[in-house]
Amino acid sequence: MSDLPLTQRLDALVASAADLVAGTGDLDALHALDVELTGRRSLLVEAKRELGSLEEDDRRAAGQAINEARQRVEDLIAARRSELAAQQRQARIEAERLDLTEREPARTGRLHLVTQARDHLEDVFVGMGFTVAEGPEVETDFYNFEALNLPPSHPARGMWDTFYVDVGDPGTVLLRTHTSPVQIRVMEATEPPICSIMPGRVYRRDTADATHTPVFHQIEGLVVDEGISFADLAGTLDAFTRAYFGRQVRSRLRPSYFPFTEPSAEYDISCVFCGGVGCRSCGGTGWLELGGCGMVHPNVFAAVGYDPERWTGFAFGFGIDRMTAQRHGVDDLRDLFTNDIRFLEQF
Ligand code: PHE
Repeated sequence: MSDLPLTQRLDALVASAADLVAGTGDLDALHALDVELTGRRSLLVEAKRELGSLEEDDRRAAGQAINEARQRVEDLIAARRSELAAQQRQARIEAERLDLTEREPARTGRLHLVTQARDHLEDVFVGMGFTVAEGPEVETDFYNFEALNLPPSHPARGMWDTFYVDVGDPGTVLLRTHTSPVQIRVMEATEPPICSIMPGRVYRRDTADATHTPVFHQIEGLVVDEGISFADLAGTLDAFTRAYFGRQVRSRLRPSYFPFTEPSAEYDISCVFCGGVGCRSCGGTGWLELGGCGMVHPNVFAAVGYDPERWTGFAFGFGIDRMTAQRHGVDDLRDLFTNDIRFLEQF
């Protein structure tokens, strides 16, 4: 080979380098080849040694030819290096891939039954023009009781068995016993007209049994404007009842008492199981009790700085868990919160 003219030898060298580089299968092999082709013992370096025996002009041309050949070989190696690196990265991604579709379909996660119910309730109310508001679960006595026309030592405070939090003066901080304190927060933050629902978790000092849990969920509604009447309350609850439970379900209001509404009422719906004739689910009455409601008490407006002469409004609140349990034939409320996957995955 060394008998051939230098340029021919260099062309042959680049050509064989191209084959060799293309044939490397990984970065280690390429590195070894790089040393062989361009390193101290390579033909390229050896060729330079011949330069000394050449005439000045020939030497310059030959030196240039060697440098060009070296550049071509280095370019080939660099191109192959990025190719192999990309291949290696791709292979690693493939190897580390997790096929999530191999999981059992029965184990697919889903929203909790109560969350589904809450979402559905929100959808229906939003469709009726309500906005959704939220408030804190740890409340002060002021929001949970006092501003709701329940001054300290009001006898009706006994309607809510309260968990107090060991913060501040004794009896001033508590876990909210209902969502009604959010009414106060919404009214403090905005001027009428108000048309909001306030869903959330509430707490009462009840021993858990089939029909009670110390933590449960309520949804509150509040509408305030000029000229709002009891008829608006009855009409709104009736429209909601049909939208949520079905067109055949009726609603009724019965006189009741809450300190923050006057007049106050209990909100019932015709039994969704027997259609109102009477069955085991409704205790033979044909009606299911859902919650409380009434016209906002003037003292509540006074507590938030609204003029009770100008504004009127209604409020309602009912439990989500009990209603959902009834609807799905769950006869022990505790099943909703023990998080047994076999129970939860039915819904
Ligand atoms: N906050 C009441 C309760 O938890 C329900 C209610 C809300 C009653 C709004 C009237 C108006 O018992």
